[in-house]
Amino acid sequence: MLTSEAIIQKKKDFFFPNAMHFYKNPPHIVRGEGKNLYDDQGKCYLDFFAGVSVVNCGHCNPFINERVANQLSTLQHTSIIYLTEPMVLLAEKLAAVLPGDMQQTFFCCSGTEANEGALLLARLYTGRKGFLAFEGGLHGRSAFTMSVTGIPMWRIDPFPDKDVHFAKGFLSHNGQRHRTADESLDSVKAILKEHGQEIAACIIEPIQGNGGINIPPLDFLGKLKAVLDDYGVLLIADEVQTGFARTGKMFAIEHFDVVPDIMTMAKALGNGLPIGAFSARPHIAKAFDKPSASTLGGNPVSATAGIAVLEYIDTHDLCQKSERLGSYFLNQLISLKEKYAMIQDVRGLGLMLGMEMENAEQVDVVLEEMKDRGFIIGKNGIKRNVIAFQPPLIISEEDIDALCENLDQALNNKAIF
Ligand SMILES: Cc1ncc(COP(=O)(O)O)c(C=O)c1O
Repeated sequence: MLTSEAIIQKKKDFFFPNAMHFYKNPPHIVRGEGKNLYDDQGKCYLDFFAGVSVVNCGHCNPFINERVANQLSTLQHTSIIYLTEPMVLLAEKLAAVLPGDMQQTFFCCSGTEANEGALLLARLYTGRKGFLAFEGGLHGRSAFTMSVTGIPMWRIDPFPDKDVHFAKGFLSHNGQRHRTADESLDSVKAILKEHGQEIAACIIEPIQGNGGINIPPLDFLGKLKAVLDDYGVLLIADEVQTGFARTGKMFAIEHFDVVPDIMTMAKALGNGLPIGAFSARPHIAKAFDKPSASTLGGNPVSATAGIAVLEYIDTHDLCQKSERLGSYFLNQLISLKEKYAMIQDVRGLGLMLGMEMENAEQVDVVLEEMKDRGFIIGKNGIKRNVIAFQPPLIISEEDIDALCENLDQALNNKAIF
């Protein structure tokens, strides 16, 4: 088996130099089971990042994987241009859990592709070219989705689309959320006043993930939708990271009591299998009537995984679990914030929680120490100074206690701080 060093060397030799990894001494992960990951030395890690909010139902979930394995050995691929059952059953199941009258879905293979399709649909429906996006938002790696991404580190295309207008982010980096939410909405209004008739859609993550677990106040999206409606601008909710029970509801937008015009999904819908999707309300979906097909989108294996994920979330009450464990966890993080001055803010909904530190260096030190102690946690934020906790939704209160105890000891470790 390859050592960690050998894998790093092969990445250097055969990947583009953009391929980074977490940690000074990264483990070679060889196995996942439920909430745990195991490295090549047999060391067990409690996973509190879930592959960036992907394995909401736990690693190698036996219920999901049995269905997937059966499908894999029965029919793996034909493409959407042939009739197969799993893709339509998944679309039907999604229609039952999506907010409002969102009913039509297009399947693809990633969050980037889902957002790309959603932006195109908005242009087709409105006949307008421009977009409105938010500072701190992340929507993908393609040219189009990168142009609406508002995090400098992920906007590497030197020639981004010029028809994108950025509203101010809705959470400042010291957590003064209400003040900046008003400023953010004012900046939306100012942009719409000048460019409203040219803008097809506004794309927003209801809770910004990579931007640093930024949550707007609960009336923000309703106010935003009302302003957008005045100008005939569609609302695209990017639920790629927040979807599928992550925040205590099936979709984060439900916390805000708003029905978007278009919604995008990926990550947790496949629990590790590649899948992406965008859904829309019927009158908007109608505008996408020219032939379009994704070769692998809606493939029977990923679609089977999606169906099993939705069933698993339902039968295991993962929305309620995420909500209950999330507030239990948040309370413990609040206690840590009271104890350590270097913690600037803690925030989040359900099991999507962030701990803002003074700087990125502190975050890296905590990540490395927690990894050595057997806990995988994440990081994000425009300044990379936010620790992210996004575990599989099948964790227990004891797991949260263990993580917080170790986090307390790590933050108290004078040898590293
Ligand atoms: C909110 C959001 N949108 C889109 C994407 C892009 O998804 P993918 O990596 O599947 O293309 C991500 C990825 O992290 C994301 O967090």
